[in-house]
Amino acid sequence: MTQIKVGVLVSGEGSLLQAILDEQDARYTVVGVISDRPAIKALARAEAAGVPTVVHAFKDYADRDAFSLAVGETLKGWSIDLAVNAGFMRILSPVYLRTIGVPHMNSHPALLPSFPGAHGVRDALAAGVKVTGTTIHFIDESVDGGPIIAQEAVTIDPDDTEDTLHARIKAVEQRLYPEVLRAFAEGRIIVEGRIVRIR
Ligand code: GRF
Repeated sequence: MTQIKVGVLVSGEGSLLQAILDEQDARYTVVGVISDRPAIKALARAEAAGVPTVVHAFKDYADRDAFSLAVGETLKGWSIDLAVNAGFMRILSPVYLRTIGVPHMNSHPALLPSFPGAHGVRDALAAGVKVTGTTIHFIDESVDGGPIIAQEAVTIDPDDTEDTLHARIKAVEQRLYPEVLRAFAEGRIIVEGRIVRIR
């Protein structure tokens, strides 16, 4: 089996990145990490693991297209097989998706298509739902709307705050994302339109 090369995009704490790094094996390796913010913990985690990092600060670009193309150029320079968001909080332009040439995945802290957007945990709590969870999906030109690869439910406790609920969701994401990366590396993820099967 050929080990696939993964590029990871981050914006913050990097706990999901850490899980992805910790689970690397003969199936996938992280070859680079891109952040849209300097001096964040996720970058320190990448550096501690000896993984190259690049910062593309959103404010340094004229617009979203220019930012997205710069991210794409960096990823292409690493000859990746797969890009994955791990707590990356920027939306990439359609022009990025048309040029990157490899699949791009995201992990969202809610059961899509419910509660898309930047506040999936907060919005689920505010809506009073009793079950939420996590969704790993391919990125397409919609926001949080691409084909769903894997989902897992998390029960909401009556006393949950956004932080306590998000911590339990993150624990699930940290287990599920590496599993999905391994399945992708093994060629076990089959996409038929909107339907994704894991063999
Ligand atoms: C995850 O819940 C992810 O779904 C969301 O941000 C969280 C990742 O946080 N977009 P971290 O930076 O990996 O700790």
